[in-house]
Amino acid sequence: MATVPPLLDIKDLYVQFSVYGGQLKVLDGVNFIMYAGEKVGLVGETGCGKTTMMKAILRVLPTPPAHIPRGEIYFKGQDILKMSADDLKRVRGRGISMIFQDPTAALNPVFSIGEQLEAVIHYSAPQGRPLSRQEVHQRAVTSLQEVALADAERLLRSYPIQLSGGMRQRVCIGMALATGPEVLIADEPGTSLDVTIQDQVLRLLKKLVEEKNTAIILITHTLGIVREMTDRVYVMYAGNIVEVAATEKLFARPLHPYTQGLISTVPRLTGGGIASGIPGRIPDYRNPPAGCRFHPRCPYVMDICRTEKPPAYQVDGDHEVACFLYRDQGSSAQLRSLRQGVKGTP
Ligand SMILES: Nc1ncnc2c1ncn2[C@@H]1O[C@H](COP(=O)(O)OP(=O)(O)O)[C@@H](O)[C@H]1O
Ligand code: SF4
Ligand SMILES: [Mg+2]
Repeated sequence: MATVPPLLDIKDLYVQFSVYGGQLKVLDGVNFIMYAGEKVGLVGETGCGKTTMMKAILRVLPTPPAHIPRGEIYFKGQDILKMSADDLKRVRGRGISMIFQDPTAALNPVFSIGEQLEAVIHYSAPQGRPLSRQEVHQRAVTSLQEVALADAERLLRSYPIQLSGGMRQRVCIGMALATGPEVLIADEPGTSLDVTIQDQVLRLLKKLVEEKNTAIILITHTLGIVREMTDRVYVMYAGNIVEVAATEKLFARPLHPYTQGLISTVPRLTGGGIASGIPGRIPDYRNPPAGCRFHPRCPYVMDICRTEKPPAYQVDGDHEVACFLYRDQGSSAQLRSLRQGVKGTP
């Protein structure tokens, strides 16, 4: 795998927000790699910066208040942060698409489902080969059928308000996949829906990305689904990736004290975030703790943790962890994914 270039390669990404009373230093040197067709999970409590990272990838963070003092986001070798508007348009259509947590906000209430879906399909047609009206319509019908929505013709004439939450979420999935993206970002899909519907939506998503071999970044509080659906998992805490490993390895032997806390906890059934069994809460991003950002909550905190940011240690093959507990076990020479330990902070 090492010789294949990554599809997405985020290097040392910092994102800050200017707010009344200071700067929120949210993303703090994030590194993240994924390959074509890979299914990657991203987990961490609410407020860890997961959505911020995904919005940075698509360059949809509001600027201001957001700004990116440092970092690169390569999609197939090209830095998204430096792309022209035309290249960015191409990436957003057929490269990367995103399903947001709230399907109601993602759909425009004044346009019919058909108008919105057909616009997406039309917009993302390859350059130089525009689709006919009939082709666009037929693809819209197929997209709705793929997400198990019956009576597609009638649905295309409907407005979002006429659909249930579960149906709207399916429409959003259909819309995100209609362009044939290489990467699908699914940011807590179905969290606003009831648990049974949410489960159905996630299973449908699993089936579709497997059939189409789409790479996916799945953000969800349902760790059982992460375990079933992903090949690798990244764990995020307070704007840092703290651990990454193959999914089975991570669940069998979580290394970072934060991951151990997350996995030992039974997820709440009704959303609202992973119910962390770890006392304390996410730090104030205006004044985050020095050293390891997790140190105020860590049961194993040592002196060094209060002053130095832990680099990533490669402990067992592709299992990497950013924690000083592993400094004597791991080799920090061949860091691939976490690549932390870069000196200096903007
Ligand atoms: N538009 C914004 N303006 C100011 N702060 C923001 C904005 N978006 C996100 N943040 C800050 O970033 C932090 C992380 O948020 P987010 O990325 O949504 O976390 P997650 O998706 O992991 O729950 C929030 O706690 C908030 O402080
Ligand atoms: S680096 Fe130190 S404070 Fe941070 S998780 Fe490891 S032991 Fe805990
Ligand atoms: Mg979020």
